[in-house]
Amino acid sequence: MAQPLVEITRRESFSAAHRLHDPRLSDEENRRLYGMCNTEHGHNYALEVTVRGGLPANGMVMDLNRLMLILREEIVSHVDHKHLNRDVPFLQGIIPTAENVAVAFWGRIEKRISQNESCRLLRVRVYESRENFVDYQGQSV
Ligand code: NI
Repeated sequence: MAQPLVEITRRESFSAAHRLHDPRLSDEENRRLYGMCNTEHGHNYALEVTVRGGLPANGMVMDLNRLMLILREEIVSHVDHKHLNRDVPFLQGIIPTAENVAVAFWGRIEKRISQNESCRLLRVRVYESRENFVDYQGQSV
């Protein structure tokens, strides 16, 4: 029997410090490129992860508590109250823009989420502030 296709989303929050700085560029070029974000500062981030799947007889695409645990274990516990440029092994070597952070978060959780048959990771959304957020859906161009 056909199953309704449903999307579920879990939201988590964390606070972290960062600085946008490309070590390949001069200090002057970094200031021009990143402006105020070249200075060390912090954000209250939010992370929303959406999983899509068929809805089986048990009424759950995926147990939302399990999704919460995956996000906390794989992401939040590693980034909350940390400095993203230097404290987080899986962010080493990248400039911690919200875009790069979203792509890295996808890589942390994609395998564990697709272990659940019939559901897949659809979107990772990272809010750097209430006004600014980015989406990553696992694609490349
Ligand atoms: Ni920032």
